[in-house]
Amino acid sequence: MSDPGLDPALAAAADAARDWLDSLPGRPVRPEADARAMLAAFDEPLPEEGTDPATVVRDLAARAEPGLMASGSGRFHGWVIGGALPAAIAADWLVSAWDQNSAMSEPFPATTMIEQVAAGWVLDLLDLPGTASVGFVTGGQMANTSCLAAARNHVLAAHDWDVEEAGLQGAPRVNVLVGEQRHDSIDASLRVLGLGASAALVVPTDEAGRADPRALAAAAGGLHGPTIVCLQVGNVNGGAADAVADVVAGVAREDLWVHVDGAFGLWARAAPAYRDRLAGVEHADSWATDAHKWLNTPYDCGIAVCAHPEAHRRAMGVRAAYLPEGGDAGLRDPIDFNPELSRRARSVPVWAAIRQLGRRGVADLVERCCRMAERLADLLRAADGVEVLHQELNQVVARFMDPMGRDHDAHSRAVLARAQAEGTCYPSGTVWRGVAAVRLSVTSWRTGPEDVDRTVAALVAAHRRERA
Ligand SMILES: Cc1ncc(COP(=O)(O)O)c(C=O)c1O
Repeated sequence: MSDPGLDPALAAAADAARDWLDSLPGRPVRPEADARAMLAAFDEPLPEEGTDPATVVRDLAARAEPGLMASGSGRFHGWVIGGALPAAIAADWLVSAWDQNSAMSEPFPATTMIEQVAAGWVLDLLDLPGTASVGFVTGGQMANTSCLAAARNHVLAAHDWDVEEAGLQGAPRVNVLVGEQRHDSIDASLRVLGLGASAALVVPTDEAGRADPRALAAAAGGLHGPTIVCLQVGNVNGGAADAVADVVAGVAREDLWVHVDGAFGLWARAAPAYRDRLAGVEHADSWATDAHKWLNTPYDCGIAVCAHPEAHRRAMGVRAAYLPEGGDAGLRDPIDFNPELSRRARSVPVWAAIRQLGRRGVADLVERCCRMAERLADLLRAADGVEVLHQELNQVVARFMDPMGRDHDAHSRAVLARAQAEGTCYPSGTVWRGVAAVRLSVTSWRTGPEDVDRTVAALVAAHRRERA
């Protein structure tokens, strides 16, 4: 016998989820209602009395629907947001039903061991060292922060400074080299880790946003003392990758750590057609990536990988008298590699996504997204008054030129706003080398040629209407 109210509540959730997912191909991509309307829809006094579970779920789904972004649509191209694979969505539901605190392996063996296997599969797919440690965290931001915490402690330990014990007060200064076009989450990590955003020594980038490898190597070689070099594979706008191989080859030092932010770009290593572009990345000391982007798991899951498991464990691990002692030799305790103590088994959808696709399916997903981005760029280039500023991997950056030659930035912004409001597709905006631009990311298993063609047609129509 199920718990009272459980069956109808689960059925209501399944119905609402199916309705939502079935509606994706046909509905406007943007939400119908804005944040104020959503607040009004939900704003009511704290209920004094309870409501039966199925009614709660049906009411929740009905009220939320107008304010949902169809980010799972094949024509959603905003930021870098992945679709969600069927097995990963369903596995995520099981994670909630199982409700395991996936911190320790002894009391919670199923989800923690699924996580151990998923960690190995991720290393295998990304061709990273099999001995590396893996933490499944909330996203790229926390993956960067976790890796940089291990990096900070490791480079200071080389100068006999024990951060775990002594903290940072009085510690030697840590140099942090970053490219000019790093993701902003790196700066946030530096703030959280007590290094301070001003610790960043900025190396210039080329037109695509790649840090100049010679400038990086020269800067790293010229610096003394604890040093972290933060590289990037997959610029959030244009997809460019820093020349990691050149940098790691030139800067081997006990007190220097090379970190790679590969929130989505690292997945190019899972695709034979694109792997060579990221050769040598495996020689870095740590890597941050996301499953909720290119692996197409639902939110949220980031992945922190360290070539120095002991540094990772020392930076993150928690032990307490009331917690079990740690797993058997060879069995991993997630608690050692995450900033959280209690935690959701967010690696289970990772396991399910990889099991659904297999190695070949992951490669196909990455390659298809890149091919669709190339198609997008080709079609935009062929349109009158559209300039493709950059295309690499799954990313496209374009600019719409004002036919009167007046204000191209204002025109590009107006085209973006019109296209978003019209609803066929959803790109997002950026500033690319000083000019306003429209950026399109193809990160979903759903995006096919027909979606791309409709996206381009909608953008070109917005461009024409704006200039009329
Ligand atoms: C290169 C890069 N690093 C870090 C992040 C932050 O990742 P998350 O949003 O998963 O925290 C992003 C997000 O787009 C990114 O593109």
